[in-house]
Amino acid sequence: METKISKILLIGADGQLGTDLVKVLTKDYELLCPSLAKLDITHFEKVKEYVNQNFPDLIINTAAFHQTDECEKNPEKSFLVNTFAVKNLAEICRERNIPLVHISTDYVFGLDEKRKTPYIEEDLPGPVNIYGISKLAGEYCIRYTLEKYFIIRPAALFGIAGPKGKKYNFVELMLYLAKEKGKVRVKNDEWTSPTYTKELAENIAELIKTDKYGIYHMTSQGECSWYEFAKKIFELTNTKVNLKPVSSEEFPTIAKRPKYSVLENKHLKDIGLDKMSHWEDALKKYLKEKGHI
Ligand SMILES: NC(=O)c1ccc[n+]([C@@H]2O[C@H](COP(=O)([O-])OP(=O)(O)OC[C@H]3O[C@@H](n4cnc5c(N)ncnc54)[C@H](OP(=O)(O)O)[C@@H]3O)[C@@H](O)[C@H]2O)c1
Repeated sequence: METKISKILLIGADGQLGTDLVKVLTKDYELLCPSLAKLDITHFEKVKEYVNQNFPDLIINTAAFHQTDECEKNPEKSFLVNTFAVKNLAEICRERNIPLVHISTDYVFGLDEKRKTPYIEEDLPGPVNIYGISKLAGEYCIRYTLEKYFIIRPAALFGIAGPKGKKYNFVELMLYLAKEKGKVRVKNDEWTSPTYTKELAENIAELIKTDKYGIYHMTSQGECSWYEFAKKIFELTNTKVNLKPVSSEEFPTIAKRPKYSVLENKHLKDIGLDKMSHWEDALKKYLKEKGHI
């Protein structure tokens, strides 16, 4: 049975994923897209007031505090944005009996350092940093509050708009470093599934037409190390660069990263809605659309 939705509140609409969601959803729905200045999800009462005055049929939350090292330095803000603001959204959705679509992350996994096979939705999470812990706590706040929710876990996003709060997404950072420095060092012992926000947005749009609520892994097919991802970017764009693989020990960061956080889109496959491409094809599409090739 399909749920009738006509008006959507999209939080984080000018972000990397949000920009693509606007493009995809705008033809079928009336969209409410308040900026952060207009609606900060950490102002709990204001969010409630906004929803009660604008009565959306569904809320999509892409907003997060996701600069991983900054999260480690500022756990209070991490839990405020990624957990308590999400709990508030879930409570508002329960009061109004509307579904919540919440964007989580592959970083809810990573504790098992020997893992070499993709995680499915039934696997027990185990984050390795404050960002992942606060996002996982946000997921649990939704799950104990609401029945009608879609928790979406993507990974390593790249999109035309680029992430807010960071200067570049990974693809643009690699191309920038190659141009400016001529040599780049990238970790070859951390594995992920780079995911194009346009495809992610398209897949989310299909999922919300259903009432198959639950947790969904939503990443590209296949996996690669960040080094392999960089290598493919340079290969496809014909960029001449001195690219060197390094270990995470040689590349220390404030927050620990998962060695392996590759996801399998099992729940999407189960309902016949896994339309995500292989990461190399998604990368080619992005590079073409961004004008790099
Ligand atoms: N980027 C990745 O590689 C990655 C990987 C896995 C999962 N994710 C998850 O995917 C989601 C989307 O990521 P993204 O790359 O699209 O992020 P993004 O570009 O940073 O966009 C986030 C949006 O949320 C807004 N926002 C931030 N704090 C807010 C607040 N307190 N209240 C209201 N709005 C707020 C931002 O507003 P401003 O524009 O004004 O700052 C921005 O528009 C996040 O939930 C993230 O945790 C991301």
